[in-house]
Amino acid sequence: MPSTLDVQALETKVKDMYRLVAQEPTGDFHFELGRELALRLGYDATRLAAVPSQAVDSFAGVGHFFDLADLQPGERVVDLGSGSGMDALYAAGLVGATGRVTGIDFTIEQLAKARGLANDSGTTHVEFREGRIEQLPLPDAAMDCVISNGVINLVPDKQAVFVEAARVLKPGGRLAIADIVTEEPLTEAIVCNVDLWASCIGGAPQEERYLAAIEGAGLVIREVRTNPYEFLSDQARGASRTYGVKSISLLATKP
Ligand SMILES: C[S@@+](CC[C@H](N)C(=O)[O-])C[C@H]1O[C@@H](n2cnc3c(N)ncnc32)[C@H](O)[C@@H]1O
Repeated sequence: MPSTLDVQALETKVKDMYRLVAQEPTGDFHFELGRELALRLGYDATRLAAVPSQAVDSFAGVGHFFDLADLQPGERVVDLGSGSGMDALYAAGLVGATGRVTGIDFTIEQLAKARGLANDSGTTHVEFREGRIEQLPLPDAAMDCVISNGVINLVPDKQAVFVEAARVLKPGGRLAIADIVTEEPLTEAIVCNVDLWASCIGGAPQEERYLAAIEGAGLVIREVRTNPYEFLSDQARGASRTYGVKSISLLATKP
């Protein structure tokens, strides 16, 4: 992380960007949103149809990982950076009423939207809590699965997120996530561009460093694959081509 990185400015920009994702999902973003994206990434159309459509409209994920997560009825799941709630509500359908899903996010407008949609749809086994994913408001060894979609790249201290994920997982628990990584290191100019950071490019780490951070937190990587994901704007596409910016999904387990 460059010493010139203004972490506070980045956080403000990330919250501004995802407030707009919650409130005006048809706006102009560097990245795609919504149902068509989710279906292309591999979400099951029937299961997606059971998720409130306004959550799907604001879906800003970068990959599909629910086959890797292999969620079972009755399991406890936490979604890191739950946004407008699509992944958490989709997970709620998989774990059923005997399971429980907790979404964590720090953007108030995303939390308000996700809570409203869960409430309106009568989904009582999902909750959305305000918090930072680098410091989860959850007890040790409480979760069967940690999921996250397009979020950890947005956090300056990625290692802290994986240490927290490992802490809250039960032994044998799974980390199943999708995120943006790069093949080449990004230049300081890109990393310090708050617009590209909030669009999931500037904060993207090199893939090998990302995987090393997961293993450094004590998790064992089981599978990694590349997703059919592309950014929309010319600026984002240009950076993607030059530095090999790509989306991956992965499964890791806690011994
Ligand atoms: C790409 S969106 C998540 C998409 C979501 N999985 C969905 O289903 O649409 C990123 C989310 O992560 C949240 N976020 C980013 N950094 C965070 C942090 N450090 N702690 C908590 N939430 C964070 C943002 O507020 C935003 O809602």
